[in-house]
Amino acid sequence: MAALIGVLPGDGIGTEVIAEALKVLDAVATIGGHRFETRHGLIGGAAMDAAGSSFPPATRDLALGADAVLLGAVGGPKWTNPEAPDRPEKGLLELRAAMGVYANVRPVVTHPALYDASPLRPERLRGVDILVVRELTGGIYFGEKRRTADGASDLCSYSRAEITRLLRMAGTLARGRRRKVASIDKVNVLETSRLWRAIAIELFAREFADVALEHVLVDAAAMHLLSRPADFDVIVTENMFGDILTDEASMLVGSMGMLPSASLNDRGRGLYEPIHGSAPDIAGQGIANPCGTILSVAMMLRHSLGLPREAAAIEAAVAAVIESGLRTRDIAAPGTRAVSTTAMGDAIVTHLRAAA
Ligand code: NAD
Ligand code: IPM
Ligand code: MN
Repeated sequence: MAALIGVLPGDGIGTEVIAEALKVLDAVATIGGHRFETRHGLIGGAAMDAAGSSFPPATRDLALGADAVLLGAVGGPKWTNPEAPDRPEKGLLELRAAMGVYANVRPVVTHPALYDASPLRPERLRGVDILVVRELTGGIYFGEKRRTADGASDLCSYSRAEITRLLRMAGTLARGRRRKVASIDKVNVLETSRLWRAIAIELFAREFADVALEHVLVDAAAMHLLSRPADFDVIVTENMFGDILTDEASMLVGSMGMLPSASLNDRGRGLYEPIHGSAPDIAGQGIANPCGTILSVAMMLRHSLGLPREAAAIEAAVAAVIESGLRTRDIAAPGTRAVSTTAMGDAIVTHLRAAA
């Protein structure tokens, strides 16, 4: 197959992990005889420096014209002034809004070989296979922001349509899994949560009677994620709750660097990125874990490019390399040897070729 893929490395370790993801994509193309045309674009701090905007028009055109977009990460110490009119993170939010990718899907799957990398006991980690469906283009991130000398406010607002389409996505995804959805809200405090829960009850009764729906308050959910993570199947929640809960959930797997994501709309043209940021503390050292980005390539092949076998092959190669004991610093046991970002990427490519 032939496809146009927009590649936005961004800042910090974004460029490092994207380089490895592209090696893997290249290997998939060679093995399967596919033609992936990759076109690079600027986003975030790098785009502010080179083009004067965190989301330049050329990047918008590239993202809207591509079959899929692969992104590294944005942000960094150079652009941290919160009072500046433009910020790297603003570019990322504008990209998500422009693409209309309202559902951010973040799989959290533990690997026995990585139990050591998690602060939780192995018996808690066994069988953890969660799919978090995070609302991505609404809520407090996108509501009106106000600032005066003496106060500030961020509006959290959701429409019935925004909530319904996300819950429907979660219900549909649950049907391909264990048919359980946990809807996370703060119904005891927030009006948006009261609307959210009412719609969830109504929608699941009408359209997803075969899917078990539970409601969990977000504060308790943060606790349940650690006390009974294996009980969860699909978790569906609003933008900011999903952001926070997935960073927490990444430690079930062992590192932020392991988690991929797919941000989807109804047109199948997704945005694919690891859940982590630009990691200024380790940027430029060649030690970042590229697995989350490489697994995001797998999600891209599955969800936007119609290549589920190739996606599974990448996932198997990552699992095999982890099982072989290769570790980047973030997942290595203290005092043990860790490999570089490129060594990890190379090993995954080697496994992919050997298995083909
Ligand atoms: P971060 O995710 O960049 O890093 C948090 C911690 O996890 C750091 O200690 C980092 O070294 C580690 N880490 C993250 N990814 C890793 C990887 N692949 N391999 C090994 N270790 C990894 O979060 P932060 O430090 O809070 O934020 C840094 C910048 O990134 C900020 O500007 C923030 O806004 C931005 N950010 C961007 C995105 C994105 O582009 N999607 C996501 C989160 C944060
Ligand atoms: C993420 C990040 C972003 C978010 C930031 C950088 C805007 O934390 O992708 O999870 O909060 O969505
Ligand atoms: Mn985040």
